[in-house]
Amino acid sequence: MTIEEYILAHSDEEGKLLSTLNRDANVNLLRPRMLSGHLQGRILKMFCRMLRPKRVLEIGTYTAYATLCMAEGMEEDGLIHTIEINDEMEDFIQKYLSHSPYKQRIKVHFGDAMQLIPAIEETFDMVFIDADKRLYSAYYDLIFPKVRNGGLILADNTLWDGKVVEEIHSNDKQALGILAFNDKIKQDDQVEKVILPLRDGLTMIWKK
Ligand SMILES: C[S@@+](CC[C@H](N)C(=O)[O-])C[C@H]1O[C@@H](n2cnc3c(N)ncnc32)[C@H](O)[C@@H]1O
Repeated sequence: MTIEEYILAHSDEEGKLLSTLNRDANVNLLRPRMLSGHLQGRILKMFCRMLRPKRVLEIGTYTAYATLCMAEGMEEDGLIHTIEINDEMEDFIQKYLSHSPYKQRIKVHFGDAMQLIPAIEETFDMVFIDADKRLYSAYYDLIFPKVRNGGLILADNTLWDGKVVEEIHSNDKQALGILAFNDKIKQDDQVEKVILPLRDGLTMIWKK
């Protein structure tokens, strides 16, 4: 048994719908590793249990795996706005939302987050940044005024497969985007921050 298997065996199960979604994505989609998965999904749910956010923004829906996990941890009157640029994901997303008891807590927007975010009139308690790595800093600047003081921003993949401590090629725009974001957050004294070495790196950013 690996340590990862041990962790999962001693944590909550992801449940039938999410394990079916996970299998479906692995068989039928390109880049299924993009979805949060069992462990990170349970952690996102736990954040919602603990923080009880009323309004959540997710940038990068993909299969809605993480969306469903966060919705599961939210209260009845909570709402997640989740944004996905690839409208070819719509059928997949709707198929799983339609089977979820939490679907009324989820609003999916199709389009570019950079264009859609300004039009969403909400103050967010929690934001999960998980889309184009080249745009992390731009997403952050866009969402920051919409996050309440005391709100939490989570950013995924901030260790970028360990590349953050390796020599980066100047044409690796995604790695450069992550590096710039990590430096920006470190220097931002409007927030407290810590990188969790979970999976591919998950940064917790708390707005003072
Ligand atoms: C890593 S996946 C999201 C995984 C999902 N949050 C989860 O944890 O299961 C990133 C997604 O962001 C989408 N994306 C990339 N750029 C985007 C943008 N500018 N606006 C909205 N979505 C974007 C991609 O199409 C892709 O589906």
